[in-house]
Amino acid sequence: MPAQGFRIAPSILSADFARLGEELGRVIAAGADWIHFDVMDNHYVPNLTFGPAVAQALKPHCVRADGTKVPLDVHLMVQPVDALAQAFARAGADLISFHPDASTHVDRTLQLIRAEGCRAGLVFNPAQPLDVLEWVIDKVDLVLVMSVNPGFGGQGFIGSALRKVAQARALIEAERARSGRDIALQVDGGIKVDNIRAVADAGADTFVAGSAIFGQPDYAAVIAAMRARLAA
Ligand code: DX5
Ligand code: ZN
Repeated sequence: MPAQGFRIAPSILSADFARLGEELGRVIAAGADWIHFDVMDNHYVPNLTFGPAVAQALKPHCVRADGTKVPLDVHLMVQPVDALAQAFARAGADLISFHPDASTHVDRTLQLIRAEGCRAGLVFNPAQPLDVLEWVIDKVDLVLVMSVNPGFGGQGFIGSALRKVAQARALIEAERARSGRDIALQVDGGIKVDNIRAVADAGADTFVAGSAIFGQPDYAAVIAAMRARLAA
């Protein structure tokens, strides 16, 4: 079990792009723990979304009514990684995760993100093993297991991700025993009210959800239903 509680990270990929600031406010009021920001470059993935200027414009909106900050969780689906990682760090990202196969020097990219004051994450596609973690886990703050192929919202959950989440949980617990550090274990793609509990049971503590939340009129009702499944 994760040391901390569960976190829900709505992906604004499925929000109304004509009203992003407003959408952020609504989903934060609805109980979002983190804001997941999907950066696609039409090179690493066949889709194009938003850059550091949009993150910077949204950063002041990442705050709750009581004044507490909501972490901006940037998921980079870009290649190469380093220059954009630095740009997003300077635009206000709190966490920056990247795909190891998109960086020539994974260890260096992790160091670069942390040197900018951000938490660093590694992302694993459905067909990729976790092998690289063995060598860099001491520099990782977040492991993201993709349960869809990256590039689009609204795809179906790929079941083998559950086995990978369990593997990642074991590696994270071993690192906790070794160093005392807590590493977040996030899952991204096809998460709904109906499957979130199975993903948590496999070992995840942080859940990205795009279409499940933004596809419904009442964001708070969806997030509350997810939390109820997690608590049951
Ligand atoms: C896919 C993105 C996901 C996506 C999740 O490349 O990384 O964050 O937006 O969307 P849903 O929850 O609709 O699968
Ligand atoms: Zn994502």
